[in-house]
Parts: sequence; C-alpha cells; structure tokens
Amino acid sequence: MSTFSQSANYHQDSLQARLEIDYLLDAQAIEKDDQQDVINGLNKANKSLPARYFYDSKGSQLFEDICQLPEYYPTRTEASILEQYAPKIVQQTQVNELVELGSGSSLKTRYLLDADQGLNAPLYYVPVDVSGGILQESANNLLADYPQLKIQGKVATYSQALRQLSGRFLGRRIIVFLGSSIGNFNPRECDRFIDRVTSALNPGDYFLLGIDLQKPVEILTAAYNDSQGVTAAFNLNMLQHLNHRFAGNFNLDLFKHQAIYNQTEHQIEMYLISQQAQTVTLASLDLTIELQPGERILTEISRKFNLAKMENYLSDRNLNLIQTYTDSQQWFGLLLCQF
Ligand code: AVI
Repeated sequence: MSTFSQSANYHQDSLQARLEIDYLLDAQAIEKDDQQDVINGLNKANKSLPARYFYDSKGSQLFEDICQLPEYYPTRTEASILEQYAPKIVQQTQVNELVELGSGSSLKTRYLLDADQGLNAPLYYVPVDVSGGILQESANNLLADYPQLKIQGKVATYSQALRQLSGRFLGRRIIVFLGSSIGNFNPRECDRFIDRVTSALNPGDYFLLGIDLQKPVEILTAAYNDSQGVTAAFNLNMLQHLNHRFAGNFNLDLFKHQAIYNQTEHQIEMYLISQQAQTVTLASLDLTIELQPGERILTEISRKFNLAKMENYLSDRNLNLIQTYTDSQQWFGLLLCQF
C-alpha cells in the first residue's frame, strides 16, 4: 500500500471513529402502515394521500430544487435568521448534544456548528432522518469539516428516535426542528409530536423550532405555485411514486397541480385535480378508485403560524420561550424554548 493510500485510510478511519449510525427503521412495519394509509386516504369521500409519498429519490431532489426557487422564501429566510443569530443561540444554550429532526443535508445546522467550534466540546450531533443515504453522506461531510464533532446518527422516524433518546442523556441537549416542517402536521399530529419532543428533554434542555408565519396571500400562493412549475412536478411525482411502489396506473397527464391558501385554517393546501372521469388501479394494494372530473386529492397541508399563538401553545406544553428570532419582514420565526 502506498504512503498516500495509507494516510488516506488513516484519515478515513479517524473520521469513522467519530461516527455511529443506528438503523431503527422497521421496513416491514413501515410498508404495512404505508399501504394502509394509501388505501384509507383514497377510499375517503374527500380523498387524500400522505405527504411522505413526495419523498422518493426524484421527489427529494425536486424538494431541494424548490428550496432554491425565487418564490420559495422559507429556506433562505430561515437560513438568514440562523446565520445572524446562531452565535447568540449557541451562547444562550451551551449544549453538549444537538439533535436535529429531519436533518437531510444538515446545511442550515452548519450555522450552529460554526458558531460552536470547540466552545462546547465534546459536541455530539445526532441527525435523525429516514433516508440512510443522505444521512451518511452529510455526516461524512460534517466530520471532515468539524474535527471536534462526534456524530451519532439515527436512520429512524421522529417517534422512534425520540423514544430512544428519552432514555439516554449525554448532558445538556437541544432538539432542533427546522424548515417549518411542523406546518405539515395537522393540529392533532402536532400535539402528539410536541409530547414526544418534551419526553426526550430533561428539565433545562432546549427546543429550537422554525415556523413559517402568516403573511399576504399572494406571497404564500406564489411560493407553492412557482413560475417554473417545480412544485407542480413535485406534487405530480407523488403519483409516479405510487405507480412504482404499488403497480399503479395513474396517468400524470390527467391530473393538475393546485395550491390554494385556506384563510380560515391558515394553511396552504396542495391538491391533485382529476381532469376527467377516470378509473385508477393500484394492483398490489388490490385497490381500484373512481375519480370524477374536477375531483381533488389532498396531498399536503402547510400551516402558517401566528407568532404569539405559537409561543403560547409551546409554553402551555412546558416549552418556555427564551427568545424569538425573526427576519425584518417577520416572514419566518425561530423560537428558542427551554423545558
Ligand atoms: C417540507 N415542508 C416544510 C415544505 C412546506 O413548505 O410545507 C414542503 C413543500 N411543499 C411544497 N413546497 C414545499
């Protein structure tokens, strides 16, 4: 072996010594839940499909593309808040363990890691994501860039990871949930999620939550009806994903993307609208459905929050507000709470 490859191997080994990944997903249980959710959703009078079906590999790429769109303000607005306030957040919290739910490429987390740089060594980063490939890749990049960081990733659902974390504490912990992904939960799912978060915190630990705020309807609807049609492709790709998973025959040309703002519920609702009367079969689910012209399938809600109401909601659940960070237009909020 050449000296070069020996040292490359040594470098690789020293990175791997700082990395542990737990694989907690139960593929069979997930497959069963997934199937049942599709059957239940498509058999309802008001049809719906679970938003997690957006994220096959093409859908995940399309979501990355959405985050770069000029109309889709949440990603860059949240990143700018983090960029500005990460040093303050790190000073305020002084944690040994940073858990990130739905870590993906961990790009925004880098603002926190940059601000920490050795301040709270050793720092354990615990990324949680259902995609093992993305988690492994972003962990390797982080290990190379942050020499003091130790990573204990979990390829898991949020509830699996939070259940496991609730029995194990490495010191002061912060749980981070960015991107306003909480807006994709309905109120009941949101309550359940927050209960799980608090059961994974010790008194004195922190929760950092990113939320998209209410704003003029035109800005909201433009963000989900972009001029390049990327969000439409993302929405329609769900049908392609279902065809692939369940031997289906959805014809994507016979559906149209629609995203509207429901002003009563304060949420964007994304639909796929059937353009004609049609029959669709998902053979491996033994499911056939009839769709009427104009009939719609709800694929996602994206709730938009009122800052004061969210602060009260969290403090009612023992997540006491330390500070709210926002941008100059008050489009997005980062709420730092202590349990
Ligand atoms: C992941 N989630 C927070 C995005 C949102 O804005 O609700 C998903 C999305 N759907 C369409 N565009 C983006």
